[in-house]
Amino acid sequence: MIALGCDHGGYELMQAVKAHLDELGLAYQDFGTFSADSCDYPVYAEKAARAVASGACDRGILICGTGIGISISANKIKGIRAALCSDCYSAEMTRRHNDANMLAMGARVLGEGLALKIVDTFLTTDFEGGRHKRRVDLITELENK
Ligand code: RB5
Repeated sequence: MIALGCDHGGYELMQAVKAHLDELGLAYQDFGTFSADSCDYPVYAEKAARAVASGACDRGILICGTGIGISISANKIKGIRAALCSDCYSAEMTRRHNDANMLAMGARVLGEGLALKIVDTFLTTDFEGGRHKRRVDLITELENK
């Protein structure tokens, strides 16, 4: 199950992401926002991030205008590693090396075609583990310092 969260800046692109996930037959839970009316991205970042942190959802996709505010917000939740990606290489490497559990994108930064490729890359790339697990564990330790 994929948790989705966006603000008004990301609303339109999120509709395209949902249509894409539908085509792929991938299940998602949409935590809003549910219109293009102005709203506050931390609200929706928190809802989607808590669903991932609790294990209710396996991964998450977040979209705001730049992807910055919504990723900063999600990363405040324990257990969340949200990666802001604007290219497929970063989306691949953040899965392989950081075990990122949420993808953040900027709708005012990316075209729809690239955004959907980034989503595909993020969802189909596995964590490598090994030395990278030690580093991800150290990130988790930072949450309790
Ligand atoms: C909203 O105008 C915009 O600030 C928001 O979508 C995001 O870009 C914040 O980081």
